[in-house]
Amino acid sequence: MPIQVEHLTHVYAPGTPFETKALDDINLTIEDGEFVGLIGHTGSGKSTLIQHLNAIMKPTSGRVLVDGEDISQGVKKSDIRKKVGLVFQYPEYQLFEETVEKDVAFGPKNLGLSEDEIAVRVKEALEMAGLEEEQWKKSPFELSGGQKRRAAIAGVLAMKPKTLILDEPAAGLDPKGRSEMRRMIRSIRASGATILMVSHSMDDVARMCERIIVMNHGKIALDGRPDEVFSEGEKLHEMHLGLPAAAVLRDRLNTRGFQIPANVYTIEQLKEEILKALKKE
Ligand SMILES: Nc1ncnc2c1ncn2[C@@H]1O[C@H](COP(=O)(O)OP(=O)(O)OP(=O)(O)O)[C@@H](O)[C@H]1O
Ligand SMILES: [Mg+2]
Repeated sequence: MPIQVEHLTHVYAPGTPFETKALDDINLTIEDGEFVGLIGHTGSGKSTLIQHLNAIMKPTSGRVLVDGEDISQGVKKSDIRKKVGLVFQYPEYQLFEETVEKDVAFGPKNLGLSEDEIAVRVKEALEMAGLEEEQWKKSPFELSGGQKRRAAIAGVLAMKPKTLILDEPAAGLDPKGRSEMRRMIRSIRASGATILMVSHSMDDVARMCERIIVMNHGKIALDGRPDEVFSEGEKLHEMHLGLPAAAVLRDRLNTRGFQIPANVYTIEQLKEEILKALKKE
């Protein structure tokens, strides 16, 4: 069953001088098995939106349905976290247990599972997150930044959520760390999870996602396949967003006489188009 967002509005600090409408009548359905990228300029409402999807935040108005159940109305936290796992931006700051293993076990323990089941889940989650066994018994503080982030993600995976939401999972990682993170997310996806990924990297969402939602001032401005979204260079520019590198190059080549279709947005496609054009000459 999908996640359905209906007329969701969120106002921070209502009735004060700091009142901010962060979400403005959002309507959205995320189907099972989708891999969705959520982009938008800073302050556009991405983090506010995703925190409504596992009941961390309550709507000012409107509602969120998960598997048909309205989670805006007092739902048990552990029940919703079994279905929708949320990895915050810089989740490594939330590690707190003595060892990596214990940290990952924290969520499953709260579900009241048997010791055996907890041990199985912890092992599976750490493997899926790509942490080597020699790190499992270490203190989280002995790990590198990228490894800490994996440990934090493992903690969410151990709840076995059907949907995984990641807020900027590659933020602050070096290029190698970014590419390892992409690989890890792809393998989680291959296990059958639905994924919603917030990102500031057009290249990452272009490479990974099948659908892209663009937020602007608390509203959904664009929602479609990557080729559809990345053919809207001007609209994205107005929203202070860029294009993936291949689409930028596409537009530059077109100003110099090429006629590459606007829906080309990956390096592979661009290479094909350039070769085609050169052959014609
Ligand atoms: N706790 C808060 N109290 C008051 N206003 C807030 C709070 N959190 C966010 N806001 C405001 O709500 C709006 C949306 O913020 P949000 O954090 O959802 O944006 P975002 O798209 O995630 O941005 P970023 O890309 O910088 O992470 C912004 O105007 C922000 O200033
Ligand atoms: Mg944010």
